[in-house]
Amino acid sequence: MIRPAAGADLPDVAILWQRYRDEANDHRFPERTDWERWILPRIAAGDVRVGTTDRHVAAYVAWQRSSPTPGCPRDLLIRELYVHPAGRGQRLGSGLLARAIDAARQRNCGAVAVVTNVDDAGVLALVEPFGFALESGELRLQLQRG
Ligand SMILES: CC(C)(COP(=O)(O)OP(=O)(O)OC[C@H]1O[C@@H](n2cnc3c(N)ncnc32)[C@H](O)[C@@H]1OP(=O)(O)O)[C@@H](O)C(=O)NCCC(=O)NCCS
Repeated sequence: MIRPAAGADLPDVAILWQRYRDEANDHRFPERTDWERWILPRIAAGDVRVGTTDRHVAAYVAWQRSSPTPGCPRDLLIRELYVHPAGRGQRLGSGLLARAIDAARQRNCGAVAVVTNVDDAGVLALVEPFGFALESGELRLQLQRG
């Protein structure tokens, strides 16, 4: 099941974030407190979804809208997408990605971009069926606006 994250999910999401950080070697946030300062407003803004298996939080996605370039619509930037190894292969990753794309459409974003290691075969296998393509070193999905 996939649902919006609530403040009470923070401890579970933080455990996943710590695993994500090690696995993806992503050290944008040096300390958990720095990450919490970023993720708590994202949770409050409705920009975080969690995936559960047997009621345990096993996956999450967190996004934010990038600052607009003058004259261009904002992009929705997927900053973190992670599925616990025990929960993989159950379509949680693709379900979370689909929620992020829905949110981008609802918010009239021009594109969705994924912050990730673009050489990872698993990531490519996940995002390519949605139409993401490599553009200037970034995985992007251009959206039809209207
Ligand atoms: C990448 C990741 C999110 C995939 O999550 P998941 O829940 O296992 O993915 P899904 O079950 O939704 O799989 C969707 C598709 O991608 C494919 N896929 C997922 N991981 C794969 C891998 N490592 N190698 C090959 N294919 C893979 C699946 O086979 C599936 O294809 P199918 O529709 O033909 O069956 C998860 O492995 C993960 O968290 N990895 C570490 C962090 C990371 O890389 N995050 C990505 C940032 S975009």
